[in-house]
Amino acid sequence: MDVPEVRVRLRESLAATTRRLGEAGVASPSVDARALIARAAGTEGPLVMLDDLPAQFGARLEELTVRRERHEPLQLILGRAPFRRLELRIRPGVFIPRPETELALDLLRERSEGPLASVVDLCAGSGALGASVLDEIPDARVLAVEIDADAAALTAENLELAGRGRGRVLQADLRGEVPDLAAAAPVDAILSNPPYIPLDARPRELEVIEHDPHRALFGGGADGLEVPRAVIAWAAVLLRPGGVLIMEHADVQGAATRGAAAEHGGFDRIETAPDLTGRDRFLLARRVPGAPAHGDERLSR
Ligand SMILES: C[S@@+](CC[C@H](N)C(=O)[O-])C[C@H]1O[C@@H](n2cnc3c(N)ncnc32)[C@H](O)[C@@H]1O
Repeated sequence: MDVPEVRVRLRESLAATTRRLGEAGVASPSVDARALIARAAGTEGPLVMLDDLPAQFGARLEELTVRRERHEPLQLILGRAPFRRLELRIRPGVFIPRPETELALDLLRERSEGPLASVVDLCAGSGALGASVLDEIPDARVLAVEIDADAAALTAENLELAGRGRGRVLQADLRGEVPDLAAAAPVDAILSNPPYIPLDARPRELEVIEHDPHRALFGGGADGLEVPRAVIAWAAVLLRPGGVLIMEHADVQGAATRGAAAEHGGFDRIETAPDLTGRDRFLLARRVPGAPAHGDERLSR
């Protein structure tokens, strides 16, 4: 195939794939079509730079397009997801990180006081938050806690790729006793995007309800806040005095999560931060300065 033929084939493929994805109700058909075509063509670069196509291009593109038409998330098809500066590894059965969660890292920079040497990511999933801490704060160490064995294994991979030896993973259920983590305490900051959807609020998108694990979505209890309350309990034990908790929640849960932090005790500066669209999305709380510290060693080096 000569270069003009490649250009025509790509243009036709883009038009046809975009149309098929649009008809299937995919939200961003042309962006997804470009990504599928690049994968079928075996390139990471821009499509305009291609001067040849592999023999299996048509068959590969057909297979990928059918998967996306069935609303398999693009990140699962590609096996990766962008998150801040990283391309995270993604696998079926593990929650796909969302762009709105990226804001937690900006809030961490704005709200933290003093050193950011040890950070804990609770309900880590793919490890998106913890891996970004390792990537963006070169001296920080991260402990990630996750209940699911497959997710914990993926967290470990993404932490290692981002932070070479500075991250570790604990597989645990946050609803149990807070274990003795003297080696991780005192902790400077806790980031968390826990499950928080109430059981009766079923997400509508097929990508979410058929592909995100339900344990990653539904927070437990009538208000969906059973796991988020456990996050607050862990933060109260692990944070050093003056350390900050930043926890994502649904836009209707601002007052309830502030109330849960106040009720638990041990926190001040309890506030709600909005996302970029102005909706209440993050609980912020500081462990009261002067409170007794849980441990006196930072994350072991
Ligand atoms: C909404 S996902 C978030 C994952 C990741 N933090 C992110 O933002 O992409 C919530 C994660 O919490 C984990 N999880 C749910 N219940 C948990 C529990 N009781 N203890 C620990 N982890 C839990 C789920 O397995 C899932 O990986």
